[in-house]
Amino acid sequence: MSKALVLSKETAPAVPSPSLTEAQKGFARHLIKWQRLHGRHDLPWQKNLQPYPVWLSEVMLQQTQVSTVKAYFEKFMTRFPRIEDLAQAQEEEVMSLWSGLGYYSRGRNLHACAQRVVADFKGEFPSSMEDLVKLPGIGPSTAAAIASICFSQKAAIMDGNVARVLTRYLGFSEDLSQSANQRGLKQLAQLLLPSKAKDMPTYTQGIMDLGATVCMPKRVLCERCPVQSTCYAHAHDLISALPLKSKKIKRKHKSIYWLIAINDRFEVLGGKRALGGIWAGMHAFPEFESEAALRASLPAVTEVQALTVVQHELTHLSLSIHGFLWQEHSTGSSRPSSKRRIHKPHVTAVGFNPPGYAWMGLEEWAQVGRPKPVSDFLEQVKALE
Ligand code: ADE
Repeated sequence: MSKALVLSKETAPAVPSPSLTEAQKGFARHLIKWQRLHGRHDLPWQKNLQPYPVWLSEVMLQQTQVSTVKAYFEKFMTRFPRIEDLAQAQEEEVMSLWSGLGYYSRGRNLHACAQRVVADFKGEFPSSMEDLVKLPGIGPSTAAAIASICFSQKAAIMDGNVARVLTRYLGFSEDLSQSANQRGLKQLAQLLLPSKAKDMPTYTQGIMDLGATVCMPKRVLCERCPVQSTCYAHAHDLISALPLKSKKIKRKHKSIYWLIAINDRFEVLGGKRALGGIWAGMHAFPEFESEAALRASLPAVTEVQALTVVQHELTHLSLSIHGFLWQEHSTGSSRPSSKRRIHKPHVTAVGFNPPGYAWMGLEEWAQVGRPKPVSDFLEQVKALE
């Protein structure tokens, strides 16, 4: 283990204290003042701190960066200006708009949550943490963000950015991969909240802004920090050691093989993936575990063309996706192309829902939920047209 990751007994507080020092009690006050002067005020979801846009942005921001979320947020607000519009939409349309944001269960939960809020709460988000966490896709931190930003509730958010700010500020050196330690930090986060509930929206935004613009993972701008003078890590030169990193998960590498079959109407064969496993319920191409299995699924005399390999990183898996293009006319048949042939390669690919596949035009692909690598291959296909 690298030495920098272990705090020495003299520098680390032995047990995280359940109470704050007098100096630490000023944390919220300094942070709020700083947020008003130097925090972010022009993010698209800050125009209107109503629960619907705040919830939408918070769900999108759960695993995705602000720079990516902005365009998706605008797209959703334009298409679904009210929660009722989202609730009434077809799931396929919601998933199509979500395509490219990743972690697709978030998109499905978003739709289910909108339907629940409309059905059970007359379209108004509940204000209590207890009710919020019961809604699909809303975990404790998202619930705390909505409750504090929209309803001035004294609820502490806790995502990766906030954990970094607080572990450094408090000198919290426990391993956050253990849930008991997460609970410990959460208790301390709750103690740091401002005394006046009306300050909660600014405080919550402030702690996120501090994590995103000052107390960053590597580039740390302590000279701009409003709580530098009482920060434990700053005083003890422990900024780079905190938060304590638990062992990195080593991603497994896997190659998968996609058949990108095109018929003479320039439609591409695809189908919905099975509900378990990666990209559950999204539209994709037939998938095989080897190039040989892919070739074996095609008519005997046939040519396939290897496309550019697409690399894709998932939480636990690093994928190399090999796309093989098969064009129906490449079999050399002399049948007239105006006659629609429904010859589909006999595909017994892995990970798909029966009844299997259909030919889909490029406009149709654009309207269904699809993982990013599928869009990447469709771009390669378009270039052939
Ligand atoms: N990350 C999570 N919530 C956020 C917000 N409201 N603003 C900026 N970044 C965030």
